[in-house]
Amino acid sequence: MKILGIAGSKRRKGNTAILLKEALQAAQNEGAKTELVFLDDYAITGCRGCEGCRESYKCVINDDMQKLYPLLLKSDGIILGSPTYFYNISADMKAFIDRCYCFEVFDEEDRSCWVSINEALGGKYAAVIAVCEQQSEKDMGFTPEAMSLSLQALGYRVIEQVKAFNLFKAGAALKDYDALRRAGEAGKKLVKTIRLRKELEGKIRLSYIQGMGENS
Ligand SMILES: Cc1cc2nc3c(=O)[nH]c(=O)nc-3n(C[C@H](O)[C@H](O)[C@H](O)COP(=O)(O)O)c2cc1C
Repeated sequence: MKILGIAGSKRRKGNTAILLKEALQAAQNEGAKTELVFLDDYAITGCRGCEGCRESYKCVINDDMQKLYPLLLKSDGIILGSPTYFYNISADMKAFIDRCYCFEVFDEEDRSCWVSINEALGGKYAAVIAVCEQQSEKDMGFTPEAMSLSLQALGYRVIEQVKAFNLFKAGAALKDYDALRRAGEAGKKLVKTIRLRKELEGKIRLSYIQGMGENS
C-alpha cells in the first residue's frame, strides 16, 4: 500500500512538513510505503483552462506536474498539507489542485454531471492537514475545505481533517503534542481504512464468484 504526502509550504522544516512527516511515519508503522513530496521542488504552472485534457484525461502542459501524475495514480491514499495563507491554501497547493482538473470528466450536455478518474477506478482515500498561526477556525478560513472539497470532487473520501492552530514559527509544531498526535492518528486511520477496503473487496469478489458457481 502506497501513501503519498504532498506539502504545500516552502518551509522545509516548517509546521506543515512536520505534521505531514508525523502522519506518514504513523502510516509507515501501520505497514504502508510512504513518500513525501514538496511542491516547491516542482515547477507547476497554473491550469490554463484550455480544456486540452478533455479527450485524453491528460494535461497538455509540459511541466513538472507531469512527474506528479504517475505518483498520484499509483498511490492508494494521499495526504495533502497546507499552511493557511490569507484564509486559504498556499499558491503552490492551489496550482497543484487545479492541475488535477484533467482527472475530472464531465457529461457533454450537462456539466452538472461529472465523475473523476479515481471514482471510475473504484475510489480512493485521503486526509488533509491545515496549519495556521491564529487560534480560531475563522482565522484558518477555507484551508481545510479547499483541500477536502477538491479531493472529494476528485474521487477521494477524506477520512480525516487535521487542523493545527497557534503555530507560527517554523518548527513550532514539534512541541504541539496534540497536533502531532492527531496527525499520527490520521496517517494510521488512512492506512486502516484502505486495508479494510482491500479486505472487503477481496471478500466480496470471493463470495460473488462462489455465489455464481453455486447458482450455475
Ligand atoms: C503570506 C502568509 C499569509 C498567512 N495568512 C494567515 C492567515 O490567514 N491565518 C493564519 O492564522 N495564519 C496565517 N499565516 C501564518 C501561517 O499559516 C503559519 O505561520 C504556518 O505555521 C506556516 O506553516 P509552515 O510552517 O508549514 O510554512 C500566514 C503566513 C504567510 C506567510
